Amino acid sequence: MLSWDEFDKEDGAETAAATTTATVNDMSLDKLNQVGGNAALEARAVDASDSDAVARAKSALNDLDIQEGLDDLAGTSARVHVGDKQMINARADLNQLVPFKYDWAWQKYLDGCANHWMPQEVNMNADIALWKSNDGLSEDERRIVMRNLGFFSTADSLVANNLVLAVYRLITNPECRQYILRQAFEEAIHTHAYQYCIESLGMDEGEIFNMYHEIPSVAKKASWGLKYTRSISDPKFETGTPETDRQFLRNLIAYYCVLEGIFFYCGFTQILSMGRRNKMTGTAEQFQYILRDESMHLNFGIDVINQIKIENPHLWDAQMKDEATQMILQGTQLEIEYARDTMPRGVLGMNAAMMEDYLKFIANRRLSQIGLKEEYPGTTNPFPWMSEIMDLKKEKNFFETRVIEYQTGGALSWD
Ligand SMILES: [Fe+2]
Ligand SMILES: [Fe+2]
Repeated sequence: MLSWDEFDKEDGAETAAATTTATVNDMSLDKLNQVGGNAALEARAVDASDSDAVARAKSALNDLDIQEGLDDLAGTSARVHVGDKQMINARADLNQLVPFKYDWAWQKYLDGCANHWMPQEVNMNADIALWKSNDGLSEDERRIVMRNLGFFSTADSLVANNLVLAVYRLITNPECRQYILRQAFEEAIHTHAYQYCIESLGMDEGEIFNMYHEIPSVAKKASWGLKYTRSISDPKFETGTPETDRQFLRNLIAYYCVLEGIFFYCGFTQILSMGRRNKMTGTAEQFQYILRDESMHLNFGIDVINQIKIENPHLWDAQMKDEATQMILQGTQLEIEYARDTMPRGVLGMNAAMMEDYLKFIANRRLSQIGLKEEYPGTTNPFPWMSEIMDLKKEKNFFETRVIEYQTGGALSWD
Protein backbone atom coordinates (compact mmCIF):
# COMPACT_ATOMS: atom_id res chain seq x y z
CA MET A 1 0.00 0.00 0.00
CA LEU A 2 1.48 3.35 -1.00
CA SER A 3 1.53 5.96 1.75
CA TRP A 4 2.02 9.69 1.41
CA ASP A 5 5.45 9.30 3.08
CA GLU A 6 6.64 6.82 0.48
CA PHE A 7 5.27 9.07 -2.22
CA ASP A 8 7.45 11.83 -0.77
CA LYS A 9 10.61 9.79 -1.07
CA GLU A 10 9.81 8.54 -4.53
CA ASP A 11 9.25 11.74 -6.35
CA GLY A 12 9.51 15.19 -4.87
CA ALA A 13 8.01 16.91 -7.89
CA GLU A 14 4.90 14.71 -7.82
CA THR A 15 4.54 15.39 -4.12
CA ALA A 16 4.62 19.12 -4.69
CA ALA A 17 1.93 18.77 -7.31
CA ALA A 18 -0.19 16.65 -4.98
CA THR A 19 0.24 19.23 -2.22
CA THR A 20 -0.84 22.02 -4.53
CA THR A 21 -3.93 20.11 -5.60
CA ALA A 22 -4.89 19.44 -2.01
CA THR A 23 -4.25 23.07 -1.07
CA VAL A 24 -6.37 24.49 -3.88
CA ASN A 25 -9.34 22.80 -2.33
CA ASP A 26 -9.32 24.88 0.81
CA MET A 27 -7.46 28.05 -0.04
CA SER A 28 -8.19 31.10 -2.13
CA LEU A 29 -6.10 31.60 -5.26
CA ASP A 30 -4.34 34.68 -3.89
CA LYS A 31 -3.31 32.91 -0.75
CA LEU A 32 -2.12 29.95 -2.76
CA ASN A 33 0.11 32.17 -4.88
CA GLN A 34 1.60 33.81 -1.76
CA VAL A 35 2.23 30.65 0.20
CA GLY A 36 4.17 28.61 -2.25
CA GLY A 37 2.17 28.23 -5.38
CA ASN A 38 5.23 29.25 -7.39
CA ALA A 39 7.34 26.37 -6.16
CA ALA A 40 4.55 23.91 -6.77
CA LEU A 41 3.87 25.30 -10.23
CA GLU A 42 7.49 24.94 -11.18
CA ALA A 43 7.42 21.34 -10.09
CA ARG A 44 4.29 20.67 -12.15
CA ALA A 45 5.72 22.18 -15.34
CA VAL A 46 7.10 19.65 -17.83
CA ASP A 47 10.50 21.22 -17.57
CA ALA A 48 11.11 23.58 -14.68
CA SER A 49 13.81 25.41 -16.64
CA ASP A 50 11.34 26.20 -19.45
CA SER A 51 10.09 29.62 -18.43
CA ASP A 52 7.29 29.48 -21.04
CA ALA A 53 5.93 26.31 -19.51
CA VAL A 54 6.02 27.86 -16.04
CA ALA A 55 4.26 30.99 -17.30
CA ARG A 56 1.57 28.91 -19.03
CA ALA A 57 0.96 26.86 -15.90
CA LYS A 58 0.70 30.04 -13.78
CA SER A 59 -1.70 31.59 -16.21
CA ALA A 60 -3.88 28.48 -16.27
CA LEU A 61 -4.07 28.51 -12.50
CA ASN A 62 -4.91 32.22 -12.45
CA ASP A 63 -7.68 31.60 -14.96
CA LEU A 64 -9.42 29.19 -12.60
CA ASP A 65 -12.69 30.88 -11.94
CA ILE A 66 -12.75 30.25 -8.22
CA GLN A 67 -14.65 33.47 -7.53
CA GLU A 68 -17.52 32.36 -9.73
CA GLY A 69 -17.73 29.05 -7.82
CA LEU A 70 -17.79 30.92 -4.50
CA ASP A 71 -20.55 33.17 -5.82
CA ASP A 72 -22.57 30.07 -6.74
CA LEU A 73 -22.17 28.68 -3.25
CA ALA A 74 -23.14 32.03 -1.69
CA GLY A 75 -26.47 31.68 -3.52
CA THR A 76 -27.16 28.52 -1.49
CA SER A 77 -25.69 29.73 1.79
CA ALA A 78 -28.83 29.07 3.86
CA ARG A 79 -28.61 25.84 5.84
CA VAL A 80 -30.54 22.92 4.39
CA HIS A 81 -33.90 22.16 6.02
CA VAL A 82 -35.29 18.65 5.78
CA GLY A 83 -38.61 20.00 4.58
CA ASP A 84 -36.97 21.48 1.46
CA LYS A 85 -35.55 18.18 0.23
CA GLN A 86 -38.44 17.10 -1.98
CA MET A 87 -38.23 14.26 -4.44
CA ILE A 88 -38.70 16.47 -7.52
CA ASN A 89 -38.32 20.21 -8.20
CA ALA A 90 -36.59 20.88 -4.84
CA ARG A 91 -34.44 23.98 -4.52
CA ALA A 92 -32.36 22.75 -1.56
CA ASP A 93 -28.58 22.34 -2.01
CA LEU A 94 -28.06 19.02 -3.79
CA ASN A 95 -24.50 18.67 -2.47
CA GLN A 96 -25.51 18.11 1.16
CA LEU A 97 -26.48 14.55 1.96
CA VAL A 98 -27.71 15.18 5.50
CA PRO A 99 -30.05 15.88 7.25
CA PHE A 100 -31.98 12.98 5.71
CA LYS A 101 -35.57 13.50 4.69
CA TYR A 102 -36.04 9.87 3.61
CA ASP A 103 -34.25 7.50 6.00
CA TRP A 104 -35.50 4.56 3.90
CA ALA A 105 -33.44 5.74 0.92
CA TRP A 106 -30.23 5.82 2.96
CA GLN A 107 -31.07 2.41 4.47
CA LYS A 108 -31.55 0.95 0.98
CA TYR A 109 -28.17 2.36 -0.04
CA LEU A 110 -26.57 0.62 2.99
CA ASP A 111 -28.41 -2.66 2.25
CA GLY A 112 -27.33 -2.51 -1.39
CA CYS A 113 -23.67 -2.06 -0.37
CA ALA A 114 -23.97 -4.92 2.15
CA ASN A 115 -25.11 -7.23 -0.68
CA HIS A 116 -22.17 -6.47 -2.97
CA TRP A 117 -21.07 -9.29 -5.28
CA MET A 118 -19.13 -9.75 -8.52
CA PRO A 119 -19.88 -12.15 -11.40
CA GLN A 120 -16.40 -13.75 -11.49
CA GLU A 121 -16.97 -15.18 -7.98
CA VAL A 122 -19.43 -17.67 -9.40
CA ASN A 123 -17.99 -20.95 -10.66
CA MET A 124 -19.23 -21.59 -14.21
CA ASN A 125 -17.45 -24.92 -14.85
CA ALA A 126 -20.53 -27.15 -14.49
CA ASP A 127 -22.50 -24.84 -16.81
CA ILE A 128 -19.78 -24.92 -19.46
CA ALA A 129 -19.65 -28.75 -19.40
CA LEU A 130 -23.44 -29.03 -19.57
CA TRP A 131 -23.84 -26.40 -22.32
CA LYS A 132 -21.18 -28.05 -24.49
CA SER A 133 -22.45 -31.63 -24.05
CA ASN A 134 -24.75 -32.94 -26.78
CA ASP A 135 -27.49 -34.36 -24.59
CA GLY A 136 -27.24 -32.34 -21.36
CA LEU A 137 -30.09 -29.94 -22.13
CA SER A 138 -33.20 -30.23 -24.28
CA GLU A 139 -33.80 -27.84 -27.19
CA ASP A 140 -36.50 -26.08 -25.10
CA GLU A 141 -34.09 -25.61 -22.19
CA ARG A 142 -31.41 -24.22 -24.52
CA ARG A 143 -33.94 -21.79 -25.98
CA ILE A 144 -34.72 -20.50 -22.47
CA VAL A 145 -31.06 -19.86 -21.69
CA MET A 146 -30.42 -18.15 -25.05
CA ARG A 147 -33.54 -15.95 -25.05
CA ASN A 148 -33.03 -14.80 -21.47
CA LEU A 149 -29.38 -13.92 -21.94
CA GLY A 150 -30.48 -12.12 -25.13
CA PHE A 151 -33.17 -10.10 -23.35
CA PHE A 152 -31.26 -9.32 -20.14
CA SER A 153 -27.91 -8.49 -21.75
CA THR A 154 -29.45 -5.34 -23.25
CA ALA A 155 -32.32 -4.74 -20.78
CA ASP A 156 -30.02 -3.90 -17.89
CA SER A 157 -28.19 -1.43 -20.13
CA LEU A 158 -31.52 0.20 -20.97
CA VAL A 159 -32.26 0.55 -17.26
CA ALA A 160 -28.76 1.89 -16.50
CA ASN A 161 -28.91 4.45 -19.31
CA ASN A 162 -32.33 5.64 -18.23
CA LEU A 163 -31.08 6.01 -14.64
CA VAL A 164 -27.88 7.87 -15.46
CA LEU A 165 -29.07 9.98 -18.39
CA ALA A 166 -32.54 10.86 -17.14
CA VAL A 167 -33.67 9.81 -13.66
CA TYR A 168 -30.59 10.92 -11.69
CA ARG A 169 -30.76 14.50 -12.98
CA LEU A 170 -34.48 14.88 -12.32
CA ILE A 171 -34.59 13.44 -8.78
CA THR A 172 -33.71 16.35 -6.50
CA ASN A 173 -33.20 14.55 -3.20
CA PRO A 174 -29.56 13.78 -2.27
CA GLU A 175 -30.14 10.54 -0.33
CA CYS A 176 -32.20 9.17 -3.22
CA ARG A 177 -29.46 10.19 -5.62
CA GLN A 178 -26.99 8.31 -3.39
CA TYR A 179 -29.08 5.15 -3.79
CA ILE A 180 -29.41 5.74 -7.55
CA LEU A 181 -25.61 5.85 -7.83
CA ARG A 182 -25.46 2.47 -6.08
CA GLN A 183 -28.23 1.11 -8.31
CA ALA A 184 -26.43 2.32 -11.43
CA PHE A 185 -23.33 0.36 -10.42
CA GLU A 186 -25.44 -2.72 -9.70
CA GLU A 187 -26.91 -2.47 -13.21
CA ALA A 188 -23.33 -2.43 -14.55
CA ILE A 189 -22.62 -5.58 -12.51
CA HIS A 190 -25.72 -7.24 -13.97
CA THR A 191 -24.68 -6.46 -17.55
CA HIS A 192 -21.23 -7.77 -16.62
CA ALA A 193 -22.81 -10.97 -15.26
CA TYR A 194 -24.70 -11.65 -18.51
CA GLN A 195 -21.59 -10.92 -20.57
CA TYR A 196 -19.64 -13.28 -18.29
CA CYS A 197 -22.19 -16.10 -18.83
CA ILE A 198 -22.25 -15.51 -22.61
CA GLU A 199 -18.45 -15.54 -22.79
CA SER A 200 -18.05 -18.57 -20.48
CA LEU A 201 -20.56 -20.62 -22.48
CA GLY A 202 -18.91 -19.63 -25.76
CA MET A 203 -22.13 -18.26 -27.25
CA ASP A 204 -22.34 -16.21 -30.43
CA GLU A 205 -22.17 -12.70 -28.95
CA GLY A 206 -23.58 -11.05 -32.09
CA GLU A 207 -26.65 -13.28 -31.98
CA ILE A 208 -27.27 -12.73 -28.25
CA PHE A 209 -26.71 -8.97 -28.10
CA ASN A 210 -28.83 -8.38 -31.23
CA MET A 211 -31.90 -10.27 -30.01
CA TYR A 212 -33.40 -6.99 -28.94
CA HIS A 213 -33.48 -6.03 -32.62
CA GLU A 214 -34.13 -9.42 -34.13
CA ILE A 215 -36.43 -11.49 -31.89
CA PRO A 216 -39.93 -9.92 -31.77
CA SER A 217 -40.81 -10.96 -28.18
CA VAL A 218 -37.55 -9.39 -26.94
CA ALA A 219 -37.68 -6.36 -29.26
CA LYS A 220 -41.22 -5.40 -28.23
CA LYS A 221 -40.27 -5.21 -24.55
CA ALA A 222 -37.14 -3.15 -25.30
CA SER A 223 -38.95 -0.70 -27.57
CA TRP A 224 -41.77 -0.30 -25.03
CA GLY A 225 -39.16 0.79 -22.45
CA LEU A 226 -37.27 3.04 -24.86
CA LYS A 227 -40.45 4.98 -25.67
CA TYR A 228 -40.56 6.25 -22.07
CA THR A 229 -36.96 7.37 -21.91
CA ARG A 230 -36.73 9.26 -25.20
CA SER A 231 -38.08 12.68 -24.22
CA ILE A 232 -36.89 12.85 -20.63
CA SER A 233 -33.29 11.93 -21.46
CA ASP A 234 -33.12 15.05 -23.65
CA PRO A 235 -30.71 17.35 -21.71
CA LYS A 236 -33.15 20.23 -22.24
CA PHE A 237 -36.02 18.36 -20.57
CA GLU A 238 -36.99 19.90 -17.21
CA THR A 239 -39.68 19.02 -14.71
CA GLY A 240 -41.68 21.79 -13.03
CA THR A 241 -44.99 21.87 -14.88
CA PRO A 242 -47.82 19.36 -14.29
CA GLU A 243 -47.27 17.94 -17.78
CA THR A 244 -43.49 17.47 -17.49
CA ASP A 245 -43.83 16.14 -13.92
CA ARG A 246 -46.32 13.57 -15.19
CA GLN A 247 -43.97 12.69 -18.02
CA PHE A 248 -41.26 11.92 -15.47
CA LEU A 249 -43.71 9.95 -13.33
CA ARG A 250 -44.63 7.85 -16.39
CA ASN A 251 -40.95 7.08 -16.89
CA LEU A 252 -40.56 5.95 -13.25
CA ILE A 253 -43.64 3.71 -13.53
CA ALA A 254 -42.39 2.29 -16.86
CA TYR A 255 -38.92 1.50 -15.54
CA TYR A 256 -39.46 0.55 -11.91
CA CYS A 257 -42.92 -1.06 -12.04
CA VAL A 258 -42.88 -2.57 -15.53
CA LEU A 259 -39.30 -3.10 -16.76
CA GLU A 260 -37.76 -4.07 -13.44
CA GLY A 261 -41.06 -5.12 -11.88
CA ILE A 262 -42.66 -7.28 -14.62
CA PHE A 263 -40.36 -7.71 -17.65
CA PHE A 264 -37.69 -9.48 -15.58
CA TYR A 265 -39.97 -11.99 -13.92
CA CYS A 266 -40.60 -14.63 -16.60
CA GLY A 267 -36.85 -14.92 -17.27
CA PHE A 268 -35.87 -14.97 -13.60
CA THR A 269 -38.43 -17.69 -12.89
CA GLN A 270 -37.29 -19.83 -15.83
CA ILE A 271 -33.56 -19.64 -15.06
CA LEU A 272 -34.05 -20.14 -11.32
CA SER A 273 -36.31 -23.11 -12.01
CA MET A 274 -33.48 -24.56 -14.09
CA GLY A 275 -31.08 -24.08 -11.16
CA ARG A 276 -33.55 -25.80 -8.80
CA ARG A 277 -33.33 -28.82 -11.12
CA ASN A 278 -29.55 -28.76 -10.86
CA LYS A 279 -29.03 -27.47 -14.40
CA MET A 280 -26.98 -24.37 -15.33
CA THR A 281 -26.38 -23.77 -11.63
CA GLY A 282 -23.72 -21.07 -12.16
CA THR A 283 -25.98 -19.06 -14.45
CA ALA A 284 -28.84 -19.58 -11.99
CA GLU A 285 -26.66 -18.35 -9.11
CA GLN A 286 -25.85 -15.16 -11.05
CA PHE A 287 -29.58 -14.64 -11.71
CA GLN A 288 -30.35 -15.25 -8.03
CA TYR A 289 -28.01 -12.44 -6.96
CA ILE A 290 -29.45 -10.20 -9.67
CA LEU A 291 -33.01 -10.92 -8.55
CA ARG A 292 -32.11 -9.91 -4.99
CA ASP A 293 -30.69 -6.60 -6.27
CA GLU A 294 -33.69 -6.07 -8.53
CA SER A 295 -36.23 -6.59 -5.77
CA MET A 296 -34.51 -3.76 -3.89
CA HIS A 297 -34.49 -1.52 -7.01
CA LEU A 298 -38.18 -2.18 -7.41
CA ASN A 299 -38.97 -1.36 -3.77
CA PHE A 300 -36.92 1.84 -3.99
CA GLY A 301 -38.78 2.88 -7.16
CA ILE A 302 -42.17 2.19 -5.57
CA ASP A 303 -41.22 4.35 -2.56
CA VAL A 304 -40.06 7.17 -4.87
CA ILE A 305 -43.26 7.04 -6.95
CA ASN A 306 -45.46 7.03 -3.83
CA GLN A 307 -43.49 9.90 -2.31
CA ILE A 308 -43.89 11.99 -5.48
CA LYS A 309 -47.64 11.31 -5.29
CA ILE A 310 -47.76 12.44 -1.64
CA GLU A 311 -45.80 15.62 -2.36
CA ASN A 312 -47.66 16.42 -5.60
CA PRO A 313 -51.23 15.10 -5.19
CA HIS A 314 -52.44 17.14 -8.18
CA LEU A 315 -50.39 14.87 -10.49
CA TRP A 316 -52.22 11.71 -9.42
CA ASP A 317 -55.61 12.46 -10.95
CA ALA A 318 -58.09 10.00 -12.49
CA GLN A 319 -56.47 10.27 -15.92
CA MET A 320 -52.96 9.59 -14.59
CA LYS A 321 -54.23 6.64 -12.52
CA ASP A 322 -55.87 5.18 -15.62
CA GLU A 323 -52.73 5.73 -17.66
CA ALA A 324 -50.57 4.03 -15.01
CA THR A 325 -52.99 1.07 -14.91
CA GLN A 326 -52.89 0.75 -18.71
CA MET A 327 -49.08 0.84 -18.70
CA ILE A 328 -48.93 -2.06 -16.20
CA LEU A 329 -51.53 -4.04 -18.19
CA GLN A 330 -49.63 -3.49 -21.45
CA GLY A 331 -46.38 -4.57 -19.79
CA THR A 332 -48.06 -7.70 -18.43
CA GLN A 333 -49.37 -8.57 -21.91
CA LEU A 334 -45.91 -8.18 -23.46
CA GLU A 335 -44.43 -10.41 -20.77
CA ILE A 336 -47.14 -13.05 -21.36
CA GLU A 337 -46.18 -13.00 -25.08
CA TYR A 338 -42.54 -13.43 -24.06
CA ALA A 339 -43.55 -16.43 -21.90
CA ARG A 340 -45.33 -18.04 -24.86
CA ASP A 341 -42.38 -17.44 -27.18
CA THR A 342 -39.83 -18.82 -24.71
CA MET A 343 -42.02 -21.80 -23.69
CA PRO A 344 -43.86 -23.17 -26.74
CA ARG A 345 -44.29 -26.39 -24.73
CA GLY A 346 -44.15 -27.32 -21.06
CA VAL A 347 -40.58 -27.28 -19.74
CA LEU A 348 -38.89 -27.40 -16.31
CA GLY A 349 -42.19 -28.16 -14.55
CA MET A 350 -43.84 -25.01 -15.91
CA ASN A 351 -45.65 -23.80 -19.01
CA ALA A 352 -46.86 -20.53 -20.55
CA ALA A 353 -50.31 -20.77 -18.92
CA MET A 354 -48.79 -21.08 -15.43
CA MET A 355 -46.47 -18.17 -16.22
CA GLU A 356 -49.46 -16.11 -17.31
CA ASP A 357 -51.06 -16.68 -13.90
CA TYR A 358 -47.82 -15.73 -12.19
CA LEU A 359 -47.48 -12.54 -14.24
CA LYS A 360 -51.06 -11.52 -13.45
CA PHE A 361 -50.32 -12.15 -9.77
CA ILE A 362 -47.22 -9.93 -10.08
CA ALA A 363 -49.18 -7.25 -11.98
CA ASN A 364 -51.79 -7.13 -9.17
CA ARG A 365 -48.95 -6.60 -6.74
CA ARG A 366 -47.43 -3.74 -8.79
CA LEU A 367 -50.83 -2.05 -9.13
CA SER A 368 -51.55 -2.20 -5.41
CA GLN A 369 -48.02 -1.10 -4.51
CA ILE A 370 -48.68 2.28 -6.17
CA GLY A 371 -52.22 2.52 -4.83
CA LEU A 372 -54.16 1.25 -7.84
CA LYS A 373 -56.93 -1.32 -8.03
CA GLU A 374 -55.94 -4.93 -8.79
CA GLU A 375 -57.00 -5.85 -12.34
CA TYR A 376 -56.80 -9.65 -12.07
CA PRO A 377 -58.87 -10.50 -8.99
CA GLY A 378 -58.46 -13.95 -7.48
CA THR A 379 -55.12 -14.74 -9.17
CA THR A 380 -52.80 -16.89 -7.05
CA ASN A 381 -49.05 -17.44 -7.19
CA PRO A 382 -48.13 -20.75 -8.85
CA PHE A 383 -44.45 -20.27 -7.93
CA PRO A 384 -44.34 -19.50 -4.17
CA TRP A 385 -40.63 -20.42 -4.08
CA MET A 386 -39.88 -17.21 -6.02
CA SER A 387 -41.09 -15.13 -3.05
CA GLU A 388 -38.80 -17.06 -0.72
CA ILE A 389 -35.77 -16.22 -2.86
CA MET A 390 -36.59 -12.52 -2.68
CA ASP A 391 -37.21 -12.42 1.07
CA LEU A 392 -35.01 -9.66 2.48
CA LYS A 393 -34.29 -11.35 5.82
CA LYS A 394 -32.90 -14.41 4.10
CA GLU A 395 -30.99 -12.13 1.77
CA LYS A 396 -29.00 -10.71 4.65
CA ASN A 397 -28.19 -14.14 6.10
CA PHE A 398 -27.33 -15.45 2.67
CA PHE A 399 -24.75 -12.76 2.11
CA GLU A 400 -23.25 -12.77 5.60
CA THR A 401 -19.88 -14.36 4.73
CA ARG A 402 -19.64 -12.43 1.49
CA VAL A 403 -20.03 -9.11 3.28
CA ILE A 404 -17.22 -9.94 5.68
CA GLU A 405 -14.91 -10.79 2.79
CA TYR A 406 -15.62 -7.49 1.10
CA GLN A 407 -15.08 -5.50 4.27
CA THR A 408 -11.63 -7.08 4.69
CA GLY A 409 -10.65 -6.86 1.03
CA GLY A 410 -11.92 -3.33 0.60
CA ALA A 411 -10.39 -1.71 3.71
CA LEU A 412 -7.82 0.90 2.76
CA SER A 413 -4.78 1.68 4.85
CA TRP A 414 -2.74 4.84 4.40
CA ASP A 415 -0.05 3.89 6.98
FE1 LIG B 1 -30.36 -4.96 -13.19
FE1 LIG C 1 -32.40 -2.92 -11.62
